[in-house]
Formats: sequence, C-alpha cells, structure tokens
Amino acid sequence: MAEPQRESWGSRLGFILAAAGSAIGLGNIWKFPYVAGQNGGAAFVLIYLAGIALLGLPILIGEIIIGRHAKANAVRSYRMFGGSPRWRAAGIWGVAGGILLLSYYCVVGGWTLGYIIKSASNPLGSTSTVQEARELFSLFTGNPVEVVVYHAAFLSLTAASIITGIQNGIEKWNKFLLPLLFVILVILIIRSNTLEGSSRGLAYYLVPDFSRIRVTTFIEAFGQCFFSLSLGLGAMVTYGSYLRGDEHIVRSSAMIVFLDTLAAFMAGLVIFPAAYAFSMDPGQGPGLTFHVIPVIFSRIPLGQLFSVLFFILLAVAALTSAMSLLELAVAFCIDELHWARPKSVVAMSLLVFIVGLPSALSFNLIAGWKPFPGMTFFSLADTLTSSIVLPFGGIWICLALLKSHAAGIAREELSKDKIPPIWISLWIFMMRGIVPVILLLLILYSFLR
Ligand code: TRP
Repeated sequence: MAEPQRESWGSRLGFILAAAGSAIGLGNIWKFPYVAGQNGGAAFVLIYLAGIALLGLPILIGEIIIGRHAKANAVRSYRMFGGSPRWRAAGIWGVAGGILLLSYYCVVGGWTLGYIIKSASNPLGSTSTVQEARELFSLFTGNPVEVVVYHAAFLSLTAASIITGIQNGIEKWNKFLLPLLFVILVILIIRSNTLEGSSRGLAYYLVPDFSRIRVTTFIEAFGQCFFSLSLGLGAMVTYGSYLRGDEHIVRSSAMIVFLDTLAAFMAGLVIFPAAYAFSMDPGQGPGLTFHVIPVIFSRIPLGQLFSVLFFILLAVAALTSAMSLLELAVAFCIDELHWARPKSVVAMSLLVFIVGLPSALSFNLIAGWKPFPGMTFFSLADTLTSSIVLPFGGIWICLALLKSHAAGIAREELSKDKIPPIWISLWIFMMRGIVPVILLLLILYSFLR
C-alpha cells in the first residue's frame, strides 16, 4: 500500500506564523516582563538580543534544517541527521520531554481560561487589592475539580485545533490567532500607557540600568531566549518537516525570532506602565500576571473588558504554543505507528491529560507531596523540562554536527537557500564551539542555584 502523501504548509507565511505561534507563549507574556523587570529592564533586553544571536538563532536554524531535510517526525528526523539508529534517542528525548512540558503547560493554559470566565463574570472585577487577588487565585487553584476541568478544556481546544491537520488546522488557526494576539497587545499597550503615572514604568523598562547586570543575568537571559523560541524538543523540527523545500530557512528563522521578541517586548510595554501607575512592584516575580493584573484592571473604567482581553491574550498565546507541542507527539504516532491523525490526536491528548493530573493537583489535593525536596510535582516538571531536558535537547544537535555526516546535510540544505559557504562555515563553527558551551553553562547554573 502506498503511503498517503505527507502534509505540508500552504504558504511560507503560514509556516512563519505557526512557528511564531509556537514560540510566542506564556514565556513571552508572563515570564519575560517579570524577568526583565528583575534584571535591569532595557539592559536585560540587550543581553537577551545577544542570546538570540549566539544561541537562539543558530539552534532554530538547526532544528528547521533537520526537519526540512528528513520531512518526518522528530524521531526519524534526528535519526537521519545523526546518521545511525542511535540518534533516534535524541528524538524520543524530545517527544517525551514535549509531553511532560505540555502536561503542565496545559494546566496553566487552563488557568487562563478560568480567568477569562472569572473576569467576564464578577469575582475578579471586584478584587481591589493584591491580597484579595492572591486569595482568589489560591481559592481557584485550590479547587481540584475546577482546575482539572479547565485543564481538560484547554487540552481539548488544543486537540481540536490540530485534529484537522496542518493546512486546515494548525496553519488556519495560527493565521487567525496570531494577528489577534498582536491586536490585543496594541490595545492593551495604549490603555496601559494612558494611565496616570504610567510613564515612570515606561522609563524603568526602557532606560537601561547596567548596575543590575550580574554574570547570572546572562544565563537567565540566554535560558529565557532558548525557552521562548520553543527550542530543544524538536517542535521546530516537526514544523520544519512540513516545509516543501523551497523556503528560505535563515530568512524564515529571522522572522520567527523577530516576531517572538517583539511580542515579549510588547508584553513588557503593557505590564510595567500599568504596574507603576498603581505603585505595584514590577519585580515581584511570577505572581505578576495572576495577582497584579486583575487588580489593575479592576480600578479603571471598562477595566473588566480589558481584563477579559488580557486573559484572552494569554490563552491565545498558550494555545498556539500547545498546538506545536501536541503536534510533536502526534507526528510521531502518525509516521512511526502508522495511526490516523484523529486517533493519534486523541491518544496523545489522553496521555497528556493523565500526565498533567499531578500538576493540576499540586495546588490542592497533593500540595503536600514533594517528590523532590522543596518541590511539588508541578515545579519538578517545570524545572526538569526547562533546566535539563531543553538544553540537553540542544546539545544533541551540536553533538550530531561534530560528525561530517550531519555537517554535510546542513551544508546541503543551507546551500539550497543560496547561503554563502563562509556563512555556513560560521554557523557550523558556532554550533560546534559556542552554542554547546553556553548550553552546558545553563545546565550547570540550574544545578548551582
Ligand atoms: N515557547 C513557549 C513559550 O514561550 C514555550 C515552549 C518552550 C515551547 N519549549 C517549547 C513550546 C517547545 C513548544 C515547543 O511559552
């Protein structure tokens, strides 16, 4: 029986938007502003840009090369790139890591759905202090049934968007959702910067404060750029595998990086001015989104509307990222197990749902269970993926490139795009020498912290 023809993107723009949709996620809207806020604002942004040049862009290009060359799921793509069956392990590493990442990502995605509903109906609209918002958050995440239902709802949305395939599913949804995300960002930036007292927040964010830069700031910035670009798991390999072969990899990568950085930067333009206008500490860390935003919006006219918009923004960002993570596992089932797409989507979603249960319950039923000292299951899953699985995933690519087989494939793919040989050599040099050293430092740093 002949294999059914493999799907592909309808257009280059479709691919870029889908990949940017994968990159732009909770990491941009939720994490980037507060990490930048704690690390010297604009000075951090400059270091972040250096991280993109030294680490993010080279690996992104590498992942897309691997996928476009093999035109197969991550496991087979890494195997072809590495040149021997052993390299399947790198792909399996990514698929398994992707399932773990998606399992708790969907729990947070579920919170964003819950907050859309809560801000549309009353409870959030009437929180006037951070203390109240904090209590509301604990009350919400403390309710096991609610959290699990929202987790399932978010996962179902993700599954529904990819079950119809690449062009009719992922591409179609990203073409709609990504522009929507930028429109909401612009609306919120305008609202936030017209609040009285907001300009000090803008200054805090945009005027570089180099005295806050430490050696560790570089590590934080580089780690953030790696996570933000969805690298290390083979998600970009999978998206790259649906390219037909006549798209310019370097130019597309540059565009993806640009959109991802723009979204993160714009999120900061929403958060800081608003936080300053209400004299709230923008450096207060992870709670910023769920504790501070509701209060800010409850204090301004039409705040409820803006609050709903903000959480729709978060949900959309999370959804388009979750799609790429689910597709990573689904592509594996379709190619390797020869399952039909609907069966693969349903099976993988069920798996992710089950793996995600302990994360969802980490805030209520099993809050006291610490599988690792000081960490709930949720924080363990988060730390394990972002600090270990992702950077090692990048290192596998660098290791493969040490061999002439992989380097040959990369040269061939990049030459198809008419990249001058000297640039190709520079890229290979970076992937062999600079990128793995940075990744090892990231891993070491997470152990020492
Ligand atoms: N980039 C996503 C964000 O910024 C999260 C993410 C990290 C991711 N690694 C990934 C998404 C791999 C898809 C695939 O929120």
